[in-house]
Amino acid sequence: MVEQVPPITPPTVRPRRLRTSAAMRRMVAETALEARQLVLPVFVREGLDEPRPIGSMPGVVQHTRDSLRAAATEAAELGIGGLMLFGVPAHRDPVGSGALEPSGILNVAIADVVAEVGDALTVMSDLCLDEFTDHGHCGLLTPDGRVDNDATLAVYAEMARAHAAAGVHMVGPSGMMDGQVAVVRAALDGAGHTDVSILAYSAKYASAFYGPFREAVDSCLDGDRRTYQQDPANAVEGVREALLDVEQGADVVMVKPALAYLDVLRRVRDAVDVPVAAYNISGEYAMVEAAAARGWIDREAAILETLTSIRRAGADVVLTYWAAEAARLLARR
Ligand code: PBG
Repeated sequence: MVEQVPPITPPTVRPRRLRTSAAMRRMVAETALEARQLVLPVFVREGLDEPRPIGSMPGVVQHTRDSLRAAATEAAELGIGGLMLFGVPAHRDPVGSGALEPSGILNVAIADVVAEVGDALTVMSDLCLDEFTDHGHCGLLTPDGRVDNDATLAVYAEMARAHAAAGVHMVGPSGMMDGQVAVVRAALDGAGHTDVSILAYSAKYASAFYGPFREAVDSCLDGDRRTYQQDPANAVEGVREALLDVEQGADVVMVKPALAYLDVLRRVRDAVDVPVAAYNISGEYAMVEAAAARGWIDREAAILETLTSIRRAGADVVLTYWAAEAARLLARR
């Protein structure tokens, strides 16, 4: 006996109608990706004669002071939101002295970039000691080798004043020391820099995806940062960190990395009333570049999909090594 198959009723509700043309899709797109929302992280290395490529980040270089100025001008012309500056000093010591000297590489680079582009870009600086210490940790160490939270805060305060004196618009405390935002805010205000804002690396995870960055800054770290960066297992804690930073005066809070933490990003976006940034980090960049170099994925499509997804998850601002290129791609779309 053959069973009777009921006739198929064609659906009357058809979501596909909104996908029928490029114009239709563009009109109903929920998430916009714009150059102004992108921030380009840049590396500047002391004593370089010419830009030095970073092997694990194809297309990204350690800049000389001159090539950094040129990159800043180009970024301003492209209309991106800003630059995040990282300094790579020629010499390191246990307390990261190079971070504080006015002639230190990051401080002179801030002044260079501000002189070059003025207010056309938001000039941001990484406020952390890991590039400047010979042990590679983000803070000072106790005699038994632990990262000393409160002693480190005093150095961050001084570093914030140095960056502000060099003309920075926004500092990015990224060391994950408890209380760092409050201490940096007080230091800036105490020195009259009430207009310098704070981008807090609030929910920053101890991630394996930072690998290429460690090459980019010639990191000396032997070990890991698990006593101060967060456990990848924790999302509620990421929200708690963001709320604490807002309470302490953060103007913008950040989730980092981005792709493996899109849920944290959404939760933070829903929990705070300040702009939220996300850092599309070195390993996320390297994975796409490596696969594209082998012809395994469509590079440009993967870049735009990545950045759009980070925006969709809740980021108002995205730090990405593709910022300049994405701005170019968006301009011709
Ligand atoms: C620490 C810092 C790190 C990054 C930016 N600032 C990483 C770390 O903890 O080693 C990573 C950025 C990236 O991977 O792109 N100051």
